[in-house]
This record gives sequence, structure tokens and C-alpha cells, in this order.
Amino acid sequence: MTIAVYPGSFDPITYGHLDVIGRAAGIFERVIVAVLVNPRKSPWLDEAERLRVIREAVDETLGNAAATVDVAAFDGLTVEFAREAGARFIVRGLRAVSDFETEIQMAHTNRKLSPEVDTIFFMTALEHSYLSSTLVKEIARFGGDVSQMVPPAVIRRLAAAG
Ligand code: PNS
Repeated sequence: MTIAVYPGSFDPITYGHLDVIGRAAGIFERVIVAVLVNPRKSPWLDEAERLRVIREAVDETLGNAAATVDVAAFDGLTVEFAREAGARFIVRGLRAVSDFETEIQMAHTNRKLSPEVDTIFFMTALEHSYLSSTLVKEIARFGGDVSQMVPPAVIRRLAAAG
């Protein structure tokens, strides 16, 4: 089975992430959305909430493909998580040239750490290429409308926070 791991912070998940997950699900038999739980960062959504919101977002936007997508938390190296999950591929999205520098560094580092794992890049769909979780959080904090940027699951969570 071809398994791919899509690692990230997903704090919160955006339509850009969902675009990458959906397209990866069209290629790989199983896609594991791997949510980095970094104890040094203080995320907007804690681990349990992020997992729940991502699961809901995948289920409500990807249709039948959602059944081939798993959502899991990890702490440590992405390649270690990939190895334990039996995944030979890491998936990442590229929104713009500015992403390329950090992404190529991560891809080469991961390949050095684990030569049997390859990184596959998807060009984020043009209509989502401006999106970032950081901007979404800032706009939401000031009461702006983020409904074009994040799925209903995130909007519901924002509404619950008041
Ligand atoms: O959504 P993000 O914050 O851009 O994702 C970054 C992520 C989680 C992919 C990256 O920080 C990562 O892989 N962290 C795990 C630690 C690790 O494996 N570091 C070495 C990779 S260069």
C-alpha cells in the first residue's frame, strides 16, 4: 500500500491544506495528516481540538476520499513518524517561491535522515496560494471574515470561542 504522511501544524487547517490533502488522496492509497504537537509552541487549538477539527474538515469537504485519510498527532521527527506508519512519502504544499527555500531544506534534511522516504510537493491551488494559518488567526482575532479561507469545522470552532 502506498502511504503518504502530510506533516504540519494545521493551527488551524485551511482550504489550502485541504486542497493538498484531497489531491494527495487521489494518488496515494492512504494519506496520514500528521499534526505536530510541539510542546514549545502554544497553539491556538490544543492537540485534541486540532485532531477533531481536521477530522471534521476532511469528512465534510473530501467526500468519499475522506475514508482514505487518517489524522494523527506526532511529536519528534517526521521521518520517524513516517517509518513507524510504513509511509515512503512525505507530502508538502508549495504556495509560492518563498516557501521553496525552507521546503527544499526540510526535504534534503529528511532524505539525509531517511533515504527511503521521498518528499512529494503539490503546488497549492492558485486560489488558495495566499492562505496562511497565521493570517487566518490574526484576521479572526480582529473579528474579520475567514469563511473563504477555512472550512466550516474551523468556523464552528471560532463561533464556539465567541
Ligand atoms: O505546518 P508547518 O508548521 O509548516 O510544518 C512544519 C513541519 C511540522 C513539517 C516541520 O516542522 C517538521 O517536520 N517538524 C518535525 C521535526 C522534524 O522532523 N524536523 C526535521 C525536518 S527538517
